[in-house]
Amino acid sequence: MNDDLQAKIEEAVKNPRNLGEMKDADAIGTVGSADCGDMLRMWVKFKEQDGRKVIDRATFQTFGCQTAIAVASVATEMLAGKTVAEAQSMSGEELAAPLGPLPPVKIHCAQLVEGALRSALAGETPKEAKRVPGGPTLLGQLNAAQSDERKIKIVLDK
Ligand code: FES
Repeated sequence: MNDDLQAKIEEAVKNPRNLGEMKDADAIGTVGSADCGDMLRMWVKFKEQDGRKVIDRATFQTFGCQTAIAVASVATEMLAGKTVAEAQSMSGEELAAPLGPLPPVKIHCAQLVEGALRSALAGETPKEAKRVPGGPTLLGQLNAAQSDERKIKIVLDK
């Protein structure tokens, strides 16, 4: 990993943007990575702007590596103001673009962010997330899944 990318990732990890659960979210998406076992959840709030439905804001929580945190941080900043169609068309590479190109071993970290976003935009609702034992937090759901036969919904988006 080059020094510039490493510095940007460290800065984003030190000061992540849009980190945390969004209580009034309109949509939630959660994914687990088949490559590393990490998880990421994204909350999205929409608003009407000039007659179009656009993303007002997006937040995230993750049990992921530093790259996943950094990509989610820059991606959630970029998503504000995008229409659903525009956001759906963004690849992991595009979501990570402010950091610069990722090395091949870290591309799946950006795909985790892309997968959570796509899952949210596909219409998973906060109500559905609350039905999962352990409550709506990522940590709560992970703990519940470990102590319960029922599993967290994992969406793999390759
Ligand atoms: Fe798992 Fe980066 S190594 S998300």
